[in-house]
Amino acid sequence: MKADVLLGLQWGDEGKGKIVDFFTPHYDIIARFQGGPNAGHTLEFDGTRHVLHTIPSGVFHADKVNIIGNGVVIDPVVFKKEIDDLESRNAAGLGNILISKRAHLILPTHKLLDAASEKSKGEEKIGSTLRGIGPAYMDKTGRNGLRVGDISLPDFDKRFSDLVQKHSRLLEMYRYHAADMDVLVSEWKAGIECLKKFSHIDAEHYINASLAEGKTLLAEGAQGSLLDIDFGSYPFVTSSNTTCAGACTGLGIPPSRIGRVFGIMKAYCTRVGGGPFPTELAGDMGNELREAGKEYGATTGRPRRCGWLDIPALKYSIMLNGVTELIMTKADVLSSFDKVMACISYRDNSGAIMPVSFSNNNILPVYREFAAWKLTNEKMNFAGKLPPELSTYIRFIEEQVNVPVTIVSVGPERSQVIKLSKSAWV
Ligand code: GDP
Ligand code: IMO
Ligand code: MG
Repeated sequence: MKADVLLGLQWGDEGKGKIVDFFTPHYDIIARFQGGPNAGHTLEFDGTRHVLHTIPSGVFHADKVNIIGNGVVIDPVVFKKEIDDLESRNAAGLGNILISKRAHLILPTHKLLDAASEKSKGEEKIGSTLRGIGPAYMDKTGRNGLRVGDISLPDFDKRFSDLVQKHSRLLEMYRYHAADMDVLVSEWKAGIECLKKFSHIDAEHYINASLAEGKTLLAEGAQGSLLDIDFGSYPFVTSSNTTCAGACTGLGIPPSRIGRVFGIMKAYCTRVGGGPFPTELAGDMGNELREAGKEYGATTGRPRRCGWLDIPALKYSIMLNGVTELIMTKADVLSSFDKVMACISYRDNSGAIMPVSFSNNNILPVYREFAAWKLTNEKMNFAGKLPPELSTYIRFIEEQVNVPVTIVSVGPERSQVIKLSKSAWV
């Protein structure tokens, strides 16, 4: 079998968690391939909301395997909290979580370094989630990191202390002092004890053997393509490859074994943290969209910046990922607007190319106006039939990007999904 990949095409929070949960019955294995607890993936069913950070979004389904891949960075403290929370919620798939021995660990000092680095940047700060993601990936590429597989080594404690000391010297350079290191270290060690309860595996072997046996796998992306370390709006990006190639390096899947690529897009755009956002709506309109879409971060609770759909950026993401099917989420949110706009090109920039370096000042979006739609609950149950205005909006996007929209999500609940095309699921 080939592995399918599901990822965000914008600046994250596109609704990946909801759609992975919805797709999980069709797969044997769900696997996270990059990012870490900077992610906040929301699932809703039976009237309850769940937010996942490190654990894949298939965890509420029994008999499904959920893998945390080598490309993920794990904070044992967050991991333990998540496990405790999932236990209290009786998540059916808790017994089937497997962790790659090659996944790197986030240390308490990585979080301090994240905070120190952000503070030193002042106005130019990235707007990091302060979960230690950047420093942990820096140690990975700098070949200093600690990995899940190291936990069983006899000198693990010494390796941990040595790295903490190294970080302490860096923190001194930043003149950044931790409140109570002893507490942070003991919480971290409790997290390590929790991690030890799970199987640590050679995930690349497990995954390739499973695919060879005919098992199906869905790789779950975190963040979004415009936050990719190579292709995103650098330096206002995260520290991993959020694009499809990240599924290969983050799980050990050869490119020839990638099958369908599901690209998730909101019907509009949001961004949390700093960096350019050409279609951002300042003022009342932006606030209205934020309230209508309940656009507050699932991890940090920060208000998300909101704006119209950016089709040039979408084309760029689709190109980078080889998206085969588009899934549009939050189509219901635009119901409260009188008209809907979409950016179709950028002025003064040969039309539609994402420049290597851009700011809100040097990109002027050219908009096209669309009639708004009303999605009532009655219409939502009318599977496959959308209000004509929404169909027009979707058809326009499909023509622009040359990829079909196969699913439209019209609410946060697992059931609030309209399948548009039989090609997605047979
Ligand atoms: P993720 O990081 O991509 O998994 O997305 P988040 O969970 O951070 O943010 C998406 C938010 O939108 C969550 O609060 C979801 O419950 C919610 N959501 C997902 N799909 C829809 C939808 O179609 N309509 C509405 N109104 N909310 C949605
Ligand atoms: P999910 O998986 C939205 C953003 C941060 C910041 C930048 C760098 O829920 O879509 P980092 O902590 O990675 O160093 O922050 O990336 N960011 C996200 N924005 N959704 C996410 O994840 C994000 N993960 C990181 O806000 O701008
Ligand atoms: Mg999120």
